[in-house]
Amino acid sequence: MSEEIAPQNLRLTKLEANKIKIVFSDIPYKPYGDQSYIKQLRILAYKHFPDRLLTTLEDLKGNSSSYCIFDNLPIDDVFGSPTGDVDSINFKNGYLSENIILAFASIVAEPYSIHFEGKKIVNDLTPHPESTNEYTGLGSKVELDFHIENAAQVYDSRGDTSPLALFLLGLRSDPDVIGPKTYVADSREALKRMTAADIKLLSEKKFIIRQPYRWRSHDSENRDTVLHSVLSGPMDQPRVTIAFYPDMVIPVSKEAKTAYDNFYEHLYDVAIGVDIQPGRLVFVNNRFTLHSREKFTPTFDKDGMPYRWVQRVFVTDSLWSFRSFHKQGERIFDPGFSTVK
Ligand SMILES: [Fe+2]
Repeated sequence: MSEEIAPQNLRLTKLEANKIKIVFSDIPYKPYGDQSYIKQLRILAYKHFPDRLLTTLEDLKGNSSSYCIFDNLPIDDVFGSPTGDVDSINFKNGYLSENIILAFASIVAEPYSIHFEGKKIVNDLTPHPESTNEYTGLGSKVELDFHIENAAQVYDSRGDTSPLALFLLGLRSDPDVIGPKTYVADSREALKRMTAADIKLLSEKKFIIRQPYRWRSHDSENRDTVLHSVLSGPMDQPRVTIAFYPDMVIPVSKEAKTAYDNFYEHLYDVAIGVDIQPGRLVFVNNRFTLHSREKFTPTFDKDGMPYRWVQRVFVTDSLWSFRSFHKQGERIFDPGFSTVK
């Protein structure tokens, strides 16, 4: 693993950041992602974002960038952090960060949320005391090892609902503690180091791909006996459907297990660590770039609120993908077997 390198970085100047702050500070946040709200953000972004930023975001649509880091984004003044589905406005002085992350996401593709992962279109990720051992964005004491987000959803019989990409925006961090780092690993770089035999094995239907933990209780479809490949497409733009945290992907032969282990080692070697500090936005391509978050000990402010606060937005090519899901808001989808309200 190495520390972040810069080619994909774009740092806003003070002037650019101030201009964006003025334009996006007073837009009312619509937590269900109403179409009129997303349209408003797109219009303002195309009108007021600097040209070099628009070019970078438009280029991400080409789907050949692994990740991209944007720095010096304007965010709200933050004085706490939410747990559960509490309104973020109780912990900061506006909805600037929601408007900014959604404006970026809306240029690249269609933002959305899955109801049981976040009831609002912008998900608040903070370490929950009751979720420390969970393999989710709310956990902390387990490493959230390399994964493609919702890899199993690529093979959902109702259509592919794995996100195209995710955006992560830092809002708050402990001033005295470094990390935790988020790692991104470009599978194309890992595959260059692998043998043709191992690549062939990854491309064969020799793997059970299980649903993420939260999805299992929300979906009646049991696909744990169906075999899939974890790699497809051309090697310069592959589709990867793998997750390396426990009990997620099960290779069904010794050779497949060896290829799986070798892939992990090479991903680990090429991974780049990113510290998602306040004002930093990270785009992660979910087609072929895996991400992970190291385990950490959460720290809390004097009011007992966790210091770490990252906001997340998923994007998809088209909302058509979710046509079989129930809507809990214009862009909030539920697989349809949920009892959670
Ligand atoms: Fe993730």
